[in-house]
Amino acid sequence: MIPTSTPTDLVYLSDLLRRMPKAELHIHIEGSLEPELIFSMGQRNGIPLAYPSVAALRQAYVFDNLQSFLDIYHTGTSVLKSEQDFFDMACAYMARAQADNVLHAELFFDLQTHTGHGLSPENVVNGLHRACVEAPTRYGMTAALIMCFLRHLDEQAAFECLEQILPLRDKILGIGLASSEVGHPPEKFARVFARARELGFRLVAHAGEEAPPAYIWSALDVLQVERIDHGVQAMHDAALMQRLVQNQIPLTVCPLSNVKLRVFPTLEQHNLLRMLDAGILATVNSDDPAYFGGYINENFTQTFAALGMTAQHAYRLARNSFAASFIDAPLRQRYMDRLDAVFAA
Ligand code: HPA
Ligand code: ZN
Repeated sequence: MIPTSTPTDLVYLSDLLRRMPKAELHIHIEGSLEPELIFSMGQRNGIPLAYPSVAALRQAYVFDNLQSFLDIYHTGTSVLKSEQDFFDMACAYMARAQADNVLHAELFFDLQTHTGHGLSPENVVNGLHRACVEAPTRYGMTAALIMCFLRHLDEQAAFECLEQILPLRDKILGIGLASSEVGHPPEKFARVFARARELGFRLVAHAGEEAPPAYIWSALDVLQVERIDHGVQAMHDAALMQRLVQNQIPLTVCPLSNVKLRVFPTLEQHNLLRMLDAGILATVNSDDPAYFGGYINENFTQTFAALGMTAQHAYRLARNSFAASFIDAPLRQRYMDRLDAVFAA
């Protein structure tokens, strides 16, 4: 049921945004590692850090673009060593997600980063998967895993990574594409995505975060992904916008990330509202919440305040998050019923 009145009370709207059930579909689990956890895991694993304190590390979180972020983000992952570390990291995120009324999360992880540090694929996947299995009882939510290939590495490395997870196939829902975008177009991974599709993985890809609309076209036409992560550059291409609207291809938009990485100069200039008004199936997500200044509800409340969005937009974005998720139809209906109940009250 779509609410017909527009609440003018910003406190009411902010409360509604926090309370409404939602799904999070664009969260890099390594990007949820808070500086406190980086330090405690570093200590537990005997890994020295280049920063003297939690505060010094947090102060370094100022970025010029995607690459300057990725450099620090990769440093943070160096403290992860054991299966327990991956379990603890995912649990810390899900505790925060539950507080934000996230009912379902699809968690990205970068296996190649961790195998590059000498870890076994089993430690990584089993730790994260155990957290997903325990999510309903521990955190009242469901969760699943999407493994992202690192696009700055080559096709051969992606094939090797796909090979490594075959014994763990049932623990992974989908395959994505992340890391440095410009200069690493989707076409580079055409064959490995085709193989992943044959294996029955759900497919997504980062496209049109910093790179032009051509990257979104090839994510759709060459990789044949079902969702686009970010996709905010689509607005520069009318034909692409028409395609996204007509086929209701979801975009997992991350407003605070886009401002921190200078994709938009300010939140007021973000195109989320314009995309929704154009009929795009957009969702709101946190991307790397420990680095970008907020978890999913912070993304909602700050963006709604900056763009003057309403309860109708809130309902639509929450509904889109369930529509765009990879959950099965009965669970999707149950979650949407819970969303409707909050808006009916
Ligand atoms: N873009 C690409 N790769 C990433 C990101 C992102 O925003 N976050 C973590 N890896
Ligand atoms: Zn991302």
